[in-house]
Amino acid sequence: KIVPVLLSGGTGSRLWPLSRELYPKQFLPLCSDRTMLQDTALRVSAQPGSPAAAAAEAVFAAPLVICNQEHRFLAAEQLRQSRCTPRGIILEPAGRNTAAACALAALAVAADDPDALLLILPADHEIRDAEAFRRAVAIAARAAQAGRLVTFGITPTRPETGYGYIRRGHSMDEADGAYNVAAFVEKPSLEVAERYLAEGTYAWNSGMFLFPASRLLAELERHAPAVLAACREALEQGSKDLDFFRLDAAAFAKAPSISIDYAVMERTDRAAVVPCEIGWTDVGAWSALWDVGNKDGEGNVIVGDVLLEGARDCYVRSENHLTAVVGVENAVVVVVDDAVLVADRSQAQDVKRIVDRLKAEG
Ligand code: GDD
Ligand code: MG
Repeated sequence: KIVPVLLSGGTGSRLWPLSRELYPKQFLPLCSDRTMLQDTALRVSAQPGSPAAAAAEAVFAAPLVICNQEHRFLAAEQLRQSRCTPRGIILEPAGRNTAAACALAALAVAADDPDALLLILPADHEIRDAEAFRRAVAIAARAAQAGRLVTFGITPTRPETGYGYIRRGHSMDEADGAYNVAAFVEKPSLEVAERYLAEGTYAWNSGMFLFPASRLLAELERHAPAVLAACREALEQGSKDLDFFRLDAAAFAKAPSISIDYAVMERTDRAAVVPCEIGWTDVGAWSALWDVGNKDGEGNVIVGDVLLEGARDCYVRSENHLTAVVGVENAVVVVVDDAVLVADRSQAQDVKRIVDRLKAEG
C-alpha cells in the first residue's frame, strides 16, 4: 500500500491578504468549495460509495499529515469534515523545510512497515484530472518498488524559475512509462530556465514524489545526515497526544532547513520521472488562481460579491464587501474584512514583498 503524506506546512504569503499566518492557503477553499487540504486528501481516498472508492482504498492507506502545531485543530477538523481519518498528524514546532518533513514521514512509517511507499503531496496543489493522476501514481509505484525515488514530470509552459527541472533519460526496464532522471536542477536562473524550455527535453518537477520509505532513509543518511539525525531525535524525544504527535522542539530545531529537492533529488543517482498530463497547477500566487479559474466572456474570474463594468482579464475576489471594478485590465483585486489588495496580474508574485514589509514592521 501507498501511504499519502500531506505536506501542509507552508504559509502561502503570496496569497495575502486572504492567506494569513494563522490561516494559510492550504486551509482555504481556493479552487473548489473544499479547502486545498481536503481536496488533496480526497484525491487519494475517494468518497465512500463512489465508484473510485474501492479501487482507491485498495491502493492508498490512511494519510499522514505534517503541519505546524499552530494549525493542528484546523487540519484535524477539516479532515474530519471530509470523513478522512488520518494515520496521524505530526506537529512541527517550526517548519524546517521539506527535507525534514520527508525524513519525519519516512522514519514514522518505516518503523511499522519498511517496505511502505510514501506519496509526498503538497497540500496546496490543484490537479484537475484526478484519474490521470492516480494512473501516474500506479506507474510510479512500479518504479518505486524497483528502489527509485520517483518524481512526476509536468510539461513546462514558461521559463519559471521557482520550480525544479528534470531532464529525462532512458526509459526504465522495470516500469513502463517511467524514465531515469539524467539531471535534476532545482530553481535555475532565468537564463538557464529559458535554455531548458527551448531544448524541450526538460519537465518541471511537480513537487510530488513517490519514495520507498527505507530507500529514502538511506539516501538521507548519505546526502543529508544532519537532517535525518535531528528528525530521529525529535521523534524519539517527542510525545503522542491523541492523533497528534508533538516533536521535541529543541531536537527538531537542529535540523538544517533545506528542501528535499536540494538535499536529495539533485544529488541522488536513483531518481526516476513519470511524465504526466494531470492538469497540475501550483497555486502559488493570485495569477495562478486566474489561470485555473472559470472565466466570463471578458476573461474575468470573479469570486464573491463583485460587479464588473468594462473589466478584462481580471481576478476579483471579495468577501463581505460589494466590490465594483470598472474599465480595468489584467488586475488582481482581493478584498477581505481588514485589507484590500490591488495588483497587476503579471506582478502578483510581488505581494510577498508586502508581507515581508508587514512582518518587518511588526
Ligand atoms: N510540513 C511542512 N513543513 N511542509 C512544508 C514545509 C515544512 O517545513 N516547507 C514547505 N512545505 C510544504 C509547502 O506547504 C508546500 O506545499 C510544499 O511543501 C512545497 O514547498 P514550497 O516551499 O512551496 O516549495 P517550492 O514551491 O519552492 O518548490 C517545490 O515545489 C515546486 C513545484 O511547486 C520544489 O519541489 C520544486 O522542485 C517544484 O518545482
Ligand atoms: Mg511551492
